[in-house]
Amino acid sequence: MKKSIGAREMIFPNPVMIVGTYDKDGAPNAANFAWGGIAASEPMAISVAVRPSRYTFENLNLKKAFTVNLPSPSFTAEADYFGIASGRDVNKFEKTGLTPVSGDFVDAPYIEEFPVNIECAVLHAIDLGSHTLFIGEIKDIKVDEALAADLKGLWHAAQILTYDSFAMSYRLPGEEVAKAFSCGLKFQ
Ligand SMILES: Cc1cc2nc3c(=O)[nH]c(=O)nc-3n(C[C@H](O)[C@H](O)[C@H](O)COP(=O)(O)O)c2cc1C
Repeated sequence: MKKSIGAREMIFPNPVMIVGTYDKDGAPNAANFAWGGIAASEPMAISVAVRPSRYTFENLNLKKAFTVNLPSPSFTAEADYFGIASGRDVNKFEKTGLTPVSGDFVDAPYIEEFPVNIECAVLHAIDLGSHTLFIGEIKDIKVDEALAADLKGLWHAAQILTYDSFAMSYRLPGEEVAKAFSCGLKFQ
């Protein structure tokens, strides 16, 4: 037996994507976006769903560039603050003390203290109603040097946060259950 819970904008887990942009004056901004993920392989692309009311929306349309910064637990409060305050009112980097670094490949800042930084150039902006889906081509990914040697262990080692939109809470990666493209082969 199942019980319908109706239509919801739900998937488990959501990423915690802290999107870095520059504004019209060149000031760095960062905001928290959970609606999105990998969109394509050729070109390699990420999607981020942004409400037009966000300051980030203006910046994305202006600069056509962004970074996606993935936080570890020591920066949970900073990540959350990026999703509460608007860069229209405050400089969130000054408030949190985090360091914006100019991207090497796109005109957007990444967050030095976060373990993973992804540089993206906007390819498409698709108006879906409440949100506009920005599709960004992945130009480069940077990871903390200490984590670079074992990319298969990156998510767990960096303890990259995920977002649970039903509980409205941040969660850590869990244990490995089985190997993908492998454990299902027994049915072939
Ligand atoms: C956990 C979390 C997830 C969020 N996800 C989204 C999202 O996917 N899309 C969106 O438009 N806003 C989202 N927000 C809200 C924005 O981050 C928030 O409005 C922020 O203040 C926008 O900053 P800005 O005006 O500097 O762009 C989220 C906030 C939080 C805390």
